Amino acid sequence: MIEFLGQISWWMWIIIALVIVAIRDIFFQRAHTISHNFPIIGHFRYILEKIGPELRQYLIANNREELPFNRIERGWIYASAKQENNYEGFGTDRDIYAHQHIFINNAMMPYKIPENHPNIEDPSFLPCAKVMGLYNNRKKPYRPASVINVSAMSFGSLSAKAVESMNKGVQMADAYHNTGEGGLSPYHSQGGDVIFHFGTGYFGVRNDDGTFSMEKLIKLVNDNPFVRAIEIKLSQGAKPGKGGVLPAAKISKEIAEVRHVPIGKDVLSPPNHSAFKDVPELLQFIEDIAKKTGLPVGIKAAIGKLDQWKELAELMKETGKGPDFITVDGGEGGTGAAPPSFADHVSLPWVYGFSDLYKLFKDKGLTERIVFVGSGKLGFPAKAAMAFAMGVDCINVAREAMMSIGCIQAQICHTNKCPSGVATQSKWLQSGIDPTLKSARLAQYFKTFRKELVEITHASGYEHPCQYQMNDIDINVDDQHLSKELDNTYMYKKVPVPFNSMQELKDCKYLGGSKQLTEHA
Ligand SMILES: Cc1cc2nc3c(=O)[nH]c(=O)nc-3n(C[C@H](O)[C@H](O)[C@H](O)COP(=O)(O)O)c2cc1C
Repeated sequence: MIEFLGQISWWMWIIIALVIVAIRDIFFQRAHTISHNFPIIGHFRYILEKIGPELRQYLIANNREELPFNRIERGWIYASAKQENNYEGFGTDRDIYAHQHIFINNAMMPYKIPENHPNIEDPSFLPCAKVMGLYNNRKKPYRPASVINVSAMSFGSLSAKAVESMNKGVQMADAYHNTGEGGLSPYHSQGGDVIFHFGTGYFGVRNDDGTFSMEKLIKLVNDNPFVRAIEIKLSQGAKPGKGGVLPAAKISKEIAEVRHVPIGKDVLSPPNHSAFKDVPELLQFIEDIAKKTGLPVGIKAAIGKLDQWKELAELMKETGKGPDFITVDGGEGGTGAAPPSFADHVSLPWVYGFSDLYKLFKDKGLTERIVFVGSGKLGFPAKAAMAFAMGVDCINVAREAMMSIGCIQAQICHTNKCPSGVATQSKWLQSGIDPTLKSARLAQYFKTFRKELVEITHASGYEHPCQYQMNDIDINVDDQHLSKELDNTYMYKKVPVPFNSMQELKDCKYLGGSKQLTEHA
C-alpha cells in the first residue's frame, strides 16, 4: 500500500485533494450555497471576501479614501509618533474646494514669540486655558497640562500592555489618561495624570449588586492621588443609550479584580444609570461626588435631543452648581464593539452635536463655568484648531492614540484578535508591544501635535488656540460663496476664553502633569 501511494505523483495528489473538496462541497455541507453550486471555485469568493479589506487598505484605496482614518492621516500619526519626517512634498493632494474642507485664516503677520516665552524652551508646551473645578470651588481644581489627552478606553477593551504604554506616554507628554469604564487598573497607575471614568456598570466602584458605591470611589481617589478628575459617562458617540454585556468568557481574574465583578458570570452594563434617574438627580450626584472626593467632576455624552440638556443648563443657572467639564463625543467616535446600526446612525456628528450644545450653554451664560472637551476624530492639528474656534478647551483622542502605539486600523477590536496587540486580551498578541518604546511614541505624537497646533495658532496671529474665534476658520459648504465662516455655518459666536499669557498658565498652581505632581509630593 505504502509503495503504491509512493508512486502517486504530486499533481495526482492535488487532483485527489480537489476531488475530495468538491465531494464535500456538493454532498456533505449545507451551509454555503455558493460552494455547493460552484464546488472548489466557490471558495475563492470567501477567500477574497476575507482578505478584501487588507487588499483595499494596502493596494487599492487611494490616500484619502478610507474611513475612519485614511492613509495620509494614519501616516501623519505614525511619522509624528516616530519623530520621522511628517511633511508632504510638492503641495497638498487634497481637493481644497471639497465640501467640509477647513480653511484657517492666517494673519498678515504671525504672532511673534517674545523672549523667555514658555514655547521657546518647549515648543510643545500647550496647557488648557481653563481650570477644571475652579468656578465650583472644588477642593482640588485641575488645569490639564496638555490640551491633547487620551480619551476613555477601558482595560478590557485595550490590552494591559497598551494601557501601560499609554499611561507612561501621557506622563512623558504631561497629558492625562482617561481610564474608560473598565475601572482603574495597575496599568493606569504608571505615573500619568488620570481621569477616572465610569458608566452604568460602575466598574471598579460598584457594590455586589452592580449599584454605585461612593465609599469605593472615595477610597480609590484617596489611594491614588494621580486621579485628578472624575468623568461620569452618560453616553458615547459610537453607541449612545446602548447597554452591554461583558461575557463570562472575557472575565479573567485580573479583570474581575479591577472591575469588582464575579468570575464565571456574564456582567450587565444597563443602558441607564441606577445612581440617578433624571437631570436634578444627576446634578445632585455630581455635587455629592465632588464634595466627597474634592475633585472636579464632569460628564461625557454624545448629543442628539436637547430637551434634557436645556433642563440641565436651566438648573445650573438656577442653583449655581453643575459639572466642571463636559466631554462632547461625536457620532463618528470609536468603540471596542458596537452594532453598526448604532455606530452609523445614532447621535450627531461632532460639529453638529457640539455646536448645538455650546449654543445652549452660551445662551444661559454658562460657558465660562465649564471646560469643554471634544472627541471624535479631532486628533489632527487643523481639526483641533477648528474645534478650539468652536469652543473646546481640550481634546481627547482615542483611536489616534491607539495608532501612535501601533494600531493598524484592522477594525477587529470586537474579535479579540487585534493583530497589533492593542485591543486584545490575548497574551501572545500583546507580547509584541514594548511599553518603553510605545510610550515614547505616544508622547512624541502628542508633542508633535501640540507643536504643530501652536505653530498654526501663531500663523493666525494668536498665542494660544483658546483665542481662536469662529470667524478665524472657514468651512466649505458648497453654496455659491463656496466657503462660510464657522459662525455663519453653525450660527453662534464663541465666548472669548480669558487668557493673558502662556507664562501665566505655566505658573498656575493647579497645573497638572508630572512636573506639578513632583512639586506637590
Ligand atoms: C477601543 C475603544 C474603547 C473605548 N472605550 C470607551 C469607554 O470605555 N467609555 C467611553 O466613554 N468611550 C469609549 N470609547 C470612545 C472614545 O473614548 C472616544 O470618545 C471616541 O473613540 C472618539 O475619539 P476618537 O475619534 O479619537 O477615537 C472607546 C473607543 C475605543 C476605540
